[in-house]
Amino acid sequence: MEGLTQQRPRQLETPANLRVHHLHDAIDDDLTLVRSGIFASQPWLHPKFFYDARGSALFDAITETPEYYPTRTEAAIFTRHVDDMLARAESRKVLVEPGSGSCEKALTLLQDHRLTHYAPIEISREYLVDCCVKLARHRPDLAVDAICGDFVRCNVLPDTVPEEGRLIFFPGSTIGNFDPEHARSLLENFHSLAGTSGGYLLIGTDLPKGRKILEAAYNDSQGFTARFNRNILDHLNTRLDCEFVPEDYQHKAFYNDALGRIEMHLLCQKDTQVRIGQEYTCLSAGQSIHTENSYKYRPEAFRELAVTAGFTPVDCWTDDNSWFAVHLLKAA
Ligand code: SAH
Ligand code: AVI
Repeated sequence: MEGLTQQRPRQLETPANLRVHHLHDAIDDDLTLVRSGIFASQPWLHPKFFYDARGSALFDAITETPEYYPTRTEAAIFTRHVDDMLARAESRKVLVEPGSGSCEKALTLLQDHRLTHYAPIEISREYLVDCCVKLARHRPDLAVDAICGDFVRCNVLPDTVPEEGRLIFFPGSTIGNFDPEHARSLLENFHSLAGTSGGYLLIGTDLPKGRKILEAAYNDSQGFTARFNRNILDHLNTRLDCEFVPEDYQHKAFYNDALGRIEMHLLCQKDTQVRIGQEYTCLSAGQSIHTENSYKYRPEAFRELAVTAGFTPVDCWTDDNSWFAVHLLKAA
């Protein structure tokens, strides 16, 4: 793993069962990524840039809105089927969670006494450490390895994470934020993290449904999604020394039926200047910055994708409305 260092969490009272690892913070690569997006004919930004501490808090607020059904629907699937899911992943010992956010969904699985180790990987570094300090205090029986950094770059886990019995847990439909080609390479990466000695992947995918329900979920009436969308600009201003004026942009989200995805954009309200490091560009009124896709996969289509990444489908659970699916796949 690139440039891995181990640090104590910020709090003085570090729980003895918590280790914090920092992946290399690739600022130059991120600057290159932002430049290549902003200078494209359809400007775009990578959705991983939504998440600093404020972005994580805004995401958590979105999940509590009445319109955003995915989180509560998936959580209910876990509550209902957790015993079955765990029984099917026989050799489980270690739960590895890329994009863990608040770690809330993991708690349901971690009730299982055979899961003795938890390794979340999260780009929102401060938020991860805060959540893991709380978790490790609450569960002194659990070994926690918090890995701060980009899960796309994380192809080897720290050697404190046991190799046998890894269950990779990727809920929330975060896989939908990658286009199918990148989703496949991410799944290949998860396949190698899972390993073939009893490795599994438990992954949540949002399902296609009526446009009205989908579009409401990404246009909540309290405006948390709009703030989350604009936060990408605030985050880049501080993290990469950019100059975007967030107030010049309006949130826009719609379902692209042909491509089976929600698209989020920031629509320029007037001609506006942007600075990325030392370089300037202008965006015109009416132009947009494409900030996120959220693909909705039919179960068969997702299974096909997972098979091309080397997984064997084991089982799949959905809710009564068929709004969300959780797949269990074996890395064999
Ligand atoms: N798993 C949680 C959170 C989903 S939100 C749930 O199901 O509710 C997506 C999470 O993935 C955020 O916490 C975000 O910070 C994290 N994330 C997004 N891209 C990432 C990346 N490239 N590397 C690591 N974490 C990432
Ligand atoms: C994290 N990800 C799966 C969320 C989604 O639904 O695509 C992020 C999000 N974007 C707007 N609202 C929530």
